Amino acid sequence: MLKKQVYVDRASPVPVYYQLKEALKEQIESGVYKPHERLPSERELEEAYRISRMTARRALEELEAEGYIYRAQGRGSFVAEPKIRQGLLWLTSFTEDMKERGMCAGARVLEVRVLKDEKVARRLKVDPDEEFVKLQRLRTADGEPMALEVSFLRRKLCPGLEEYDFNDRSLYKTLEEFGLHLGRAEQTVEAKVADDFEAELLGVKPGTPLLSMERVTYLADGQTPIEYVRSLYRGDRYKLFVELKRR
Ligand code: GLP
Repeated sequence: MLKKQVYVDRASPVPVYYQLKEALKEQIESGVYKPHERLPSERELEEAYRISRMTARRALEELEAEGYIYRAQGRGSFVAEPKIRQGLLWLTSFTEDMKERGMCAGARVLEVRVLKDEKVARRLKVDPDEEFVKLQRLRTADGEPMALEVSFLRRKLCPGLEEYDFNDRSLYKTLEEFGLHLGRAEQTVEAKVADDFEAELLGVKPGTPLLSMERVTYLADGQTPIEYVRSLYRGDRYKLFVELKRR
């Protein structure tokens, strides 16, 4: 069922599928359609707007790729949960971020290894001969995969870190237990699409947008590097938030 007609301008240079997609997105964001509510079907859109089935399908496919809707085989399209809004101001852990939202943080350890890595050493500006503990985890929120993270910790600052079971424990909390107090981090964010491996782990289709973040974390003195992390967050489930002040 169509809840509210949207205006589609056929004379516009903006493709019809795009206009329809943006209009439906607007309706989802303004709450015309609520999370888990069914959206009009391809056929309903086709009839209501006298557009081709292809055009209707494309609008829905793109809404799905952008994380606004999910499709259930044979049942139609439904409004997805709103994205998680991640602030960029504070140096927080995944566990803390989830707790703040009343969600349960989880992890599946994919790899723990002690190694040397020249590239990581360069990023941390430490001796290329230093050993790192590499920890690769799939992070989950209430059981749903959210991010893939690979962290490198300077082993000499936390010897034996590789012995802990991170399926069930926060890395930042563990570092605190080593007496390592974190002070600040430098982080970049860029766009990436999920490759087959990433998509499978994250439970999304290959090609889904991801937010790729790189972080170098320093101790409370502000200058001793401790961690280098690469994180891939699901772009269909996350949006970033930062407050800007006028100069
Ligand atoms: C976030 C950060 C990572 C950090 C991790 C620690 O996800 N992006 O850089 O390593 O938190 O999380 P936790 O303490 O929950 O293991």
